[in-house]
Parts: sequence; C-alpha cells; structure tokens
Amino acid sequence: MAKRRIIIDCDPGVDDAIALLLAFASPDEIEIVGITTVIGNVSQPATTRNALRIAAMANRQDIPIYAGCSRPIILPHEQRGASVHGTDGLGDLGVPDATHAVQDHHAVDFIIDTILREPGQITLCPIGPMTNIAMALIKEPSIAAKIRDIAFMGGAAFSAGNTATDAEFNIWIDPHAAQVVLSSGIPMTMFGLDVTRHATLTQARFDQLDRDASPIMQTAIAMMRHYGGGDASLHDPCVIAFLIDPTLFRGVDAVIEVDCDEAGSYGRTRATLVENGRGQGQSVCHVITEVDDERLFQLIDRRLRLLRPTQEMAA
Ligand code: BDR
Ligand code: CA
Repeated sequence: MAKRRIIIDCDPGVDDAIALLLAFASPDEIEIVGITTVIGNVSQPATTRNALRIAAMANRQDIPIYAGCSRPIILPHEQRGASVHGTDGLGDLGVPDATHAVQDHHAVDFIIDTILREPGQITLCPIGPMTNIAMALIKEPSIAAKIRDIAFMGGAAFSAGNTATDAEFNIWIDPHAAQVVLSSGIPMTMFGLDVTRHATLTQARFDQLDRDASPIMQTAIAMMRHYGGGDASLHDPCVIAFLIDPTLFRGVDAVIEVDCDEAGSYGRTRATLVENGRGQGQSVCHVITEVDDERLFQLIDRRLRLLRPTQEMAA
C-alpha cells in the first residue's frame, strides 16, 4: 500500500495525543506533512502547546505544527476539557514543554497551500472540531476537488452522543463547520461513537501495555488512565489505525446531516443509509460501524513500543 501523506488536525486532548504517537510510530504507512491545531478539548493555545509537547516527547520536532482557529464559526462554546482530559488537556501529568516553536503561518492557510501544491495527494485527518477544515473550504473553495479524502473522528450516526444534546463532542463544538465539510462532496470516512466506543482499553489491555513499558509508553498509559479510568475509548487513534490497516474496520455508506438548530439536538448527526439509489447527488460518507478491537489494540501496543524517547525522558 502506498504511503499516505496526511495533515492531522487536532485538539490534544489525551486520545489526540495517542493518535499523534501512533502516527509518529508508523512511518512506513504514514507521512505527516503537518499538524494543525484547533479549539476543542482545551483552548487553542493549549492544544497547540500540547501538540508541540507530544511531538517533542517523541523526538518529532521535524514535523511542522500550525495554530488554527480559537473559536467555532458561529457560536462560542464551553469546553469540557478539565473533567476528562485534565486542566492542561494531557491529564495534568507535567509532560515537559517543548523547546521548538509553532510555525508563523496560520493552520487554515497551511491547509490551503498544501492542497494547492499537491492536488489529489493529501488526506486530511480532523480529530477535533472541524473549524479549520471548514474555514479552508470557505476561504479557497477550489481545494474541495483537490483533497484526496478526509478520515475524521466525529459524530454518532446510529448510536447515542456524548453531550447534553445527544451530539458527539467534536461536532457539538462546531456543528456549522461540520455541515460545511460533510456537504462538500469530498470522499469521506467517518469514525463516530458508533465505532470508537468499541475501541476501548480494558484493564487487561492496560496491563499488557504496562509490561516493559518505555518512558513514552508510561506517559501515554498515565494519560489514558486519567482520561478513561479503567476503560479508555481510543476515539481519535481509530482514524490513524485505519490508514495503517483498513482491514481492522467495516462500515456502511450514508448521507450525514448535522443539526445546527440551537433549540434542537444541536450538533447531532443524522444518517440516511445510501441504498437503492438513495443519496445520489449528495455527499456520501463511509460510516465506520465495526472494529476488530483486539487487533486494533495489538497494533497500538506494537507501534507505541517503537517510539524512541527524548534523552530527557530516558534519563
Ligand atoms: C472526541 O471528543 C474529544 O474529547 C476526543 O478527543 C475525541 O476527539 C470524542 O467524542
Ligand atoms: Ca480530539
């Protein structure tokens, strides 16, 4: 399989951090062209700081990181970060600050410029609110036809959400952005709560990861324990795992619409299965519904063990 050139658009966030580490550990399948950050689990300056910290932790200061949007397009929204991802977004474990810096260019412009320079080559991987991607499509609509595809974590097509309005968190933060992206006609694969809720780390799997864990693994495990207790859902890593080994997942085709009505189920994704000719002329999304969670876990365990710590962590 040819190596995928990707941009990871993220809001680290503990599971975003694990997704980044999984991508760093998979250079044979994945080339990360850049990392862009957005408001979500914590503020945008905090998600940017966290992306830099995770890259430094894994010795990947070579990957450029671009700061993106610091608020949703229409309605500002509270963050739920503190309770789930810790006040700092990475479980308040004192992960060291990076010594390298964020790029000067804005994330939205980086996305546009990269797509225009490499038409048909880039896979976008949003694993936070889709604000940056939507803004890129609004600023430069011609990129829609030049994006190879989008694989994203967000939504809940056939299952319950994880917010007060029954929406999934990423879509709930910026439903208008999600609607822009989901109606763009770009080939899309969705990893919603339908599947990511089944990608969990049980106690037995935590114990397996713990065995002979390197300093990076130990930090990753401590972050996940903070965020998920004994049962952490690996939402965002599913997107990266799919690019490494698509046979881990199965799904169906559907048209996804987003409820943007503040009085309704704000941010809820509604799925209409594409069968018997329905969905023609609309943006069709491949909605992942099943995962071989045992093989997914084995992949994550194997790959995280490949990461080399910085000298500071190894000391
Ligand atoms: C999503 O919300 C965030 O808290 C996680 O990072 C993930 O992207 C799951 O609903
Ligand atoms: Ca995320």
